[in-house]
Amino acid sequence: MPLVAFAHILFHLYKKVSHQAPRILLTGGAGYIGSHTFVKLREAGIEPVILDNFANSHPAVVDRLAQITGAPVLLERGDVLDQPFVEDVLRRHAPAGVIHLAGDKAVGESVAQPLKYFRSNIGGAISLLQAMEAVYLPVGALGAPLLVFSSSATVYGDPATVPITEDFPRGHTDPYGHTKLVIEEMLDAVRAAQPAWRIGVLRYFNPAGAHPSALIGEDPNGTPANLMPYLTQVAIGRLPHLRVFGGDYPTPDGTGVRDYIHIQDLADGHVVALRALQRTGESFTVNLGTGRGYSVLDVVKAFVDATGRPVPYRIVDRRPGDVAQCYADPSRAKALLGWEARHTLEQMCADAWRWQQRNPQGYATGAA
Ligand SMILES: NC(=O)c1ccc[n+]([C@@H]2O[C@H](COP(=O)([O-])OP(=O)(O)OC[C@H]3O[C@@H](n4cnc5c(N)ncnc54)[C@H](O)[C@@H]3O)[C@@H](O)[C@H]2O)c1
Repeated sequence: MPLVAFAHILFHLYKKVSHQAPRILLTGGAGYIGSHTFVKLREAGIEPVILDNFANSHPAVVDRLAQITGAPVLLERGDVLDQPFVEDVLRRHAPAGVIHLAGDKAVGESVAQPLKYFRSNIGGAISLLQAMEAVYLPVGALGAPLLVFSSSATVYGDPATVPITEDFPRGHTDPYGHTKLVIEEMLDAVRAAQPAWRIGVLRYFNPAGAHPSALIGEDPNGTPANLMPYLTQVAIGRLPHLRVFGGDYPTPDGTGVRDYIHIQDLADGHVVALRALQRTGESFTVNLGTGRGYSVLDVVKAFVDATGRPVPYRIVDRRPGDVAQCYADPSRAKALLGWEARHTLEQMCADAWRWQQRNPQGYATGAA
């Protein structure tokens, strides 16, 4: 059979299969968490449609996703704040649900520019929810509205104790965390007013690491606000030393303690959350963390051990909004979703480092 005819058949087979696979809208799907979630969804036989404006991601990620999963990527380039656009996307793709990750996430920037965060995060959520309301309510052929929302451990504010369970009081210590809290409260109100909604709220702890292919990973703009990309950029020579924010917290070594979770485990959490909402129709809120706390200096040591790279660091002043300790009790996610984190801190360090080595300048490096 001529090659062209064979390719033609393959293309039509793909179109048929991809048309049959249930679709999910993945807002922010080109970002760090979204790209890894995209791969896990495809592996689970779900066809994600990415909606992203690339405000904090690189278009090259789309080719990388096609490379990893072996099929073209459905992309809707645009702003989640543009409600008519979101409605149009929902009508054209008729997804079985939405995973909402699009938004701004830098705590420090949110302290300096709170209005930007209220507008992008809260405004984005309102736009999406109203678009979903218009398309899915009253419940018709498309089914009841289904949403998985990326919340954050920041909604616990400064927790009185650790580990943190989901029924701890909610609070916030910075405008970014405030936006997540307001969105959670909005979702509570929507659910109370319209019980048809099925909503899974995922409170992420601290994602780290990269896909084992090293084709996708964390690629922040400017100086990284998160520890792992900061470490890898120091190790590769892009930054002179690591700045450790605060050495006088009431923790064993004085540095902040966090619950680092491998990005692959976190991405898996979205697939099981989606399945649980579809299976039971019951809304829920769960922590996605490992249940283990590591200090900044623990992570530095694990990174040096896993990679053999020296990481010079300096202890500087505390950062506004940071708390001493924050780690999850992840038992509800296990009981409700059958989900638990499987990867170790050493794997997070090794995978993050492999990504950085293959992509010294992130996606701007070109083909990995
Ligand atoms: N990474 C973390 O440590 C962490 C922790 C807890 C919660 N979260 C939340 O998870 C979500 C994803 O985080 P991430 O680390 O992947 O961030 P990211 O910045 O890598 O990804 C966010 C994506 O959303 C896109 N986006 C931003 N505003 C948009 C808009 N108005 N319209 C369309 N697209 C838009 C960006 O271009 C980017 O691709 C965010 O909501 C974040 O608050 C992240």
